[in-house]
Amino acid sequence: MKSSSTLSVHQLKPFGAKLTNVDLDNPEQRDSIKKLLYENGVLLIPADRGACAGSDPISTNEHMLQLAKIFGEIENYHPVMESEDTAGKVQILETMGNTGIPADSFFFHSDMSWRADPTRACVLRASIVPPSGGNTRFRSANTMYRRLSKDIQKQLHNLDALHSLKVGYARVNRPNAVQDDVQSIHPAIIKHPDTDVPLLYLNPNFTIALVGMPEQESAELLQHIFKEIDFTDDDTLSHSWVPGDVAVWDNFGVQHQAMADYQGLRRMNRVAIRDPHLRIDRYVGENTQQGSIT
Ligand SMILES: [Fe+2]
Repeated sequence: MKSSSTLSVHQLKPFGAKLTNVDLDNPEQRDSIKKLLYENGVLLIPADRGACAGSDPISTNEHMLQLAKIFGEIENYHPVMESEDTAGKVQILETMGNTGIPADSFFFHSDMSWRADPTRACVLRASIVPPSGGNTRFRSANTMYRRLSKDIQKQLHNLDALHSLKVGYARVNRPNAVQDDVQSIHPAIIKHPDTDVPLLYLNPNFTIALVGMPEQESAELLQHIFKEIDFTDDDTLSHSWVPGDVAVWDNFGVQHQAMADYQGLRRMNRVAIRDPHLRIDRYVGENTQQGSIT
């Protein structure tokens, strides 16, 4: 454990950091937190002793937004998620219970990869959690890249992929959730926007095809890639939620998944963050570092 001002940073395994004694009113801490996110991929702020703005815990939408603003601008629109606040910035992710919405069962993914300017980072706070299950799991997109064979890496350096909102929701048992599809094309392997390390930017939730490749060949290669990067629990950061817990993730450095292994109501609040200067650059192989964590 190390401290910066009163901020305490506890390293998690296999990656990520838990922060306690967070004070959002402290500018020095805000700078440290931003740096810590891109170094660690995921920051977890526990409900107890975790964070405050002044003397209040991060239990209000206002304080979630204050935390989110450390990392960029707040997004205020999602075509599926309801928003809780009138400004449309705090989205409600509510599943199971009496909602009629199935457990997320999302495959590993990067949020909003179907958009031309995907979300840079997300803040998620647990509001109501089921009696058991419903963990959020995170995996490093750099490790995903490094798990691929050199031949596949080389092939992917020159490829782009198509991502679809509508197909993504259909794949998780919500075929009617999206009326108007949104699709975007991104390089299959990108440079991390802050650190330049290579990241796999394909995911089994929203990626539907490799551009310029026959349909069957594309489907088989994607299937092969997701099998080749198969992780174990030892490679995975899995967070078991307590109401009031807050997680922040680097939406390029890691992919995440909400486990669909619960029965009761699960209600989460999310704030998505955009970087108005975001550039998604292709990683072409040589002359850049391979990276280590995220
Ligand atoms: Fe997600």
